[in-house]
This record gives sequence, structure tokens and C-alpha cells, in this order.
Amino acid sequence: MFKGVLFDLDGVITDTAEYHFLAWQALANELGITIDRKFNERLKGVSREDSLRLILAEGKQEDRYSPTEFAALAKKKNDHYKEMIQSVTPADIYPGIQSLLTALKENQIGIALASASKNGPFLLEHLGIMALFDTIVDPASLKAGKPAPDIYEAAASQLSLAPSECIGIEDALAGIQAIQASGALPIGIGKEVDLGTDIALVPDTSQLTYDFLCDTWQNQIHS
Ligand code: BG6
Ligand code: MG
Repeated sequence: MFKGVLFDLDGVITDTAEYHFLAWQALANELGITIDRKFNERLKGVSREDSLRLILAEGKQEDRYSPTEFAALAKKKNDHYKEMIQSVTPADIYPGIQSLLTALKENQIGIALASASKNGPFLLEHLGIMALFDTIVDPASLKAGKPAPDIYEAAASQLSLAPSECIGIEDALAGIQAIQASGALPIGIGKEVDLGTDIALVPDTSQLTYDFLCDTWQNQIHS
């Protein structure tokens, strides 16, 4: 049986993936760069700085800004994003997540946050679920962001587990790749066209039950 579950946050625990998209789109518009939801799939799970690099490259502006200007653009996006998340409350937790967290706790399964976002602790507090998490990875402490395995390796290690004893839950391709590279078992939230056909998928979090996690774990062992 798995001993830990490693959670992405944005787009898994609550709808903040949408706020990230809206804030990036507003910044891109100001810079004269058009980004759509299809392009946004490449930003999901990716760090603030790497996301800005991808957007500037999309607009062929990668050499236009000094390091100071680049930092100011990243801050501008984050300030806008932070404005949007001020009003987040426990009512914003995605369906099924609270009961999954509670069931994991009842079954003594470790719970870790493996989010690339520096706003993760703020969101867990405002969603009222901070106390259910045993540990949070500090994304600033990592050498490489998703799709590198570092964040999932760190999350398992902070639970005193090996990644191979854990399930990772993600809504982004970069995140699924990070889970796979770490050796944990991925479960994706979303569509095959975005996340691939080789992993367990649920269309939305209401189907992410403790029983589903147990079944997915058993299927991998017996397949
Ligand atoms: C990830 C999001 O969880 O965190 C990305 O999927 C985001 O969209 C990244 O860029 C970094 O977040 P933040 O809040 O530190 O800018
Ligand atoms: Mg996500």
C-alpha cells in the first residue's frame, strides 16, 4: 500500500490555475504578446521565472529586458495574482479534496505539498487545510523545477519515504513528468490529450476518492 500522497496545488486543490492564467495573460497583453489556453498548458506547473521566459520567447522578446526589468515583470504578475487570491476561502476547495485529505489522515498516510508556487502556504492557510499537511516543500530550495523530479523527491523525503512508496497528484504535464521521473505513481486530473494515455486519470477531483487511489495503486502492482 502507498504510504504518502504528494499534492500539487494549483488546479488540484483549488482553481488557482485559472488565476495564474488570467494574470499571465494580462501581463502578456501589456507586452503585446498573445497567449491562449492552449499555450497556457505549457505554463502549468512551471515556475514564475520559467513561465515568464516562455511567454517572452513566444513574443520573440527574450532579449528585450534587463535582469532588473525581468524581475519587475515577474513581480507585476505576482502582485496581480496575489490580489486575485486574497478572497480565497475554504469554499474554494475543489470537490472531494477535503474528504480525500481526511481519509488519508484516518489511514495514517503522509500528506505533502509539492507545489512550484511560493504562494502555496498562503493558500493552504486561507483554504483552512494547512493542519492536514505533514510537510510543504519550499520551491526556492530546489535546483530544478518541474518537469525535473526534484520537488517530488524532496516531498517524499520530507515524509521520510521513498518516492516509490508515494502517489503524486497533478493537473499539468510538467508535473506528471516530474512525478514519473521521481519514481512515484502519478494520477492526473484532466484530459488524455493534455496529460497522456499512460497514466491513471480522473476528469475532475470529485472522482479522486481514497478508494480510487487504493485501486490505482493495486492496479499498478498487479499489472
Ligand atoms: C505552479 C503553477 O503551481 O506554480 C504555475 O502551476 C506557477 O502556473 C507556479 O507559475 C509558480 O507560482 P508562484 O505563485 O510562485 O508564482
Ligand atoms: Mg497544477
